[in-house]
Amino acid sequence: MNENIKILAIESSCDETSAAIVINGRKVLSNVISSQIDIHTKFGGVVPEIASRKHIEVIALVVQQALEEAQVELKDVDAIGVTYGPGLVGALLVGMQYAKSLAYAIKKPLIGVNHIEGHISANFIQYSDLKPPFMCLVVSGGHTFIVYMKDYGEFEMLGQTRDDAAGEAYDKVARAIGLGYPGGPKIDKISKDGDENAIKFPRANFHENDSLDFSFSGVKSAVLNYLNKKQMKGEKVNTADVAASFQKAVVGFLVDNAIKACKLKKVNKIAVAGGVAANTYLRKTLIKEGALNNINVLVPETVLCTDNAAMIGSAAYFEYKKGNLSDLRLNAVPNLKLGQR
Ligand code: KG4
Ligand code: ZN
Repeated sequence: MNENIKILAIESSCDETSAAIVINGRKVLSNVISSQIDIHTKFGGVVPEIASRKHIEVIALVVQQALEEAQVELKDVDAIGVTYGPGLVGALLVGMQYAKSLAYAIKKPLIGVNHIEGHISANFIQYSDLKPPFMCLVVSGGHTFIVYMKDYGEFEMLGQTRDDAAGEAYDKVARAIGLGYPGGPKIDKISKDGDENAIKFPRANFHENDSLDFSFSGVKSAVLNYLNKKQMKGEKVNTADVAASFQKAVVGFLVDNAIKACKLKKVNKIAVAGGVAANTYLRKTLIKEGALNNINVLVPETVLCTDNAAMIGSAAYFEYKKGNLSDLRLNAVPNLKLGQR
């Protein structure tokens, strides 16, 4: 097999149009990301129809730029990787259609990639010697779970959210306290000026003591109730305190279960993945707790945590090596599950 497999990867599952050139799943030659955040901010969240239209407008330019920055010609690409789920169906279809057309034109294989496997794969870029098995805490806008990655593409689900994803809770609380979209980075920033012990927001309790599941709708409702009560009494709300206290409740839950999972499986390595993994308080707390428990915590740089095509290029390479190629009938799967093909 060719030693240096160059993959052109495309990601368009939500509100970022991205293209990257990645060698052997580890080395990023380019990772171009065109974000639509400014457009969706006006609406307080991602508007799917607008997202699809914006992807169409920029996809050709983004791919072109990724090739130019990498100084790679399209004919020299070995395969095209593309996210086919989970995500917004219209948004996914734009990237997929473009990827299929390129694969057909240059007669190279197409590789459909699971977006969440892409997020996990970001760790293979950041840590060039990293190999499974390891634990992974996946925290994004639509997903929150702890998986044990036994081997490339092989996952054991240990715990997951029973309602809202962590990122969803961040975004909803940010909206309620007037920070706007996207909430995660804004709560992250403002919390630094707040007192995390100012308000005690509750954590969900499950009947099963050994559960590694999460629940974030309770803490979200508790924040909303707190704001309502304050408003009814005509009292001023300290936004930074609310943000910091909310964040403490969410991150505490994530970190406690992550450490519990490592102990349960006797694993001493845990990686983080997904947009919320960019959160500075989560990173700091997990690293601190990991050190206390002799667990090595892997944190990819921020740009590799939020949506980007380099992570898709990495995951595509490991599928390519296993011979998991797709064909031009590949369809978008908005609810694609981890490990499902
Ligand atoms: O992985 P991602 O970019 O897209 C999905 O696949 O969902 O994750 C987006 C989520 C959003 O909810 C956003 O608010 C959150 O990640 N996020 C953050 C931070 N940066 C992005 N949440 C907390 N702190 C951050 N710094
Ligand atoms: Zn994502």
